[in-house]
Amino acid sequence: MEGAYSPARAPVLILLGPPGAGKGTQARMLEERFGLVQLSTGDMLRAAVAAGSKAGTEAKAVMEAGGLVSDRIVLDILADRLSQPDCAKGVVLDGFPRTTGQAKALDALLAEAGQQVDTAIALEVDDVKMVTRIAGRYTCAGCGEGYHDSFKVPKVEGTCDHCGGREMKRRADDNAKTVMSRLDAYHAQTAPLIEYYAEKGTLKRVDAMGPIEEISGQIARLVAAATA
Ligand code: AP5
Repeated sequence: MEGAYSPARAPVLILLGPPGAGKGTQARMLEERFGLVQLSTGDMLRAAVAAGSKAGTEAKAVMEAGGLVSDRIVLDILADRLSQPDCAKGVVLDGFPRTTGQAKALDALLAEAGQQVDTAIALEVDDVKMVTRIAGRYTCAGCGEGYHDSFKVPKVEGTCDHCGGREMKRRADDNAKTVMSRLDAYHAQTAPLIEYYAEKGTLKRVDAMGPIEEISGQIARLVAAATA
């Protein structure tokens, strides 16, 4: 698949889904397999929090409570990142947009550049499964590769398969209370985007309950077909 991929133009893909649906996991697969740039607003916001920037300071309490950071902050961060030259290769948006306001702003931003959203992939999982996935999640502190206590363990215990790093970390918002708030925010503010993209004819639904590789295969086929 890797060698044969040759898109007619740089694609703009969106991964939609509740916390723990596998957006980050599949975005990294798309990055490796198709050379797309993964744009995770969650990662960008965590970097802003770690840097202690003004936006990060504002976002911190909202993220810890499991709510959604304001559209203003998220759009500023996203627009800045999207304007960087590497994004010309094509992007996979992971965790953005999350509100109708963000979706409309993205459409406007892309239109200015003569682009549009090619495909919005909705990863469908049930709420119980999602909580199990989040409870066991950890990532490599060096490169951000994601792992899970049961579903995706490194080949050598404690060592990242991707970069060989030996420091792993867990997210501060991956606790039972915050997860329920994040789920509520998803159902109230983000799930309506499924209809938004369905009406535009760009929505593809993927059953995301099965094994990671099986879901990756389905998504890769969708992306190859959509960008051929
Ligand atoms: P964000 O970082 O985007 O978190 P999220 O949406 O809650 O999604 P997660 O990262 O928790 O899950 P995921 O779907 O990426 O799953 P993963 O692949 O890791 O956002 C965090 C916070 O930032 C938000 O709560 C909000 O406050 C703020 N924010 C971010 N963007 C925003 C925006 N646009 N607007 C406003 N606020 C925003 O998988 C989870 C685990 O399961 C991993 O361990 C993985 O290995 C495992 N796994 C994955 N797939 C499978 C599978 N098929 N089978 C078994 N295990 C699997």
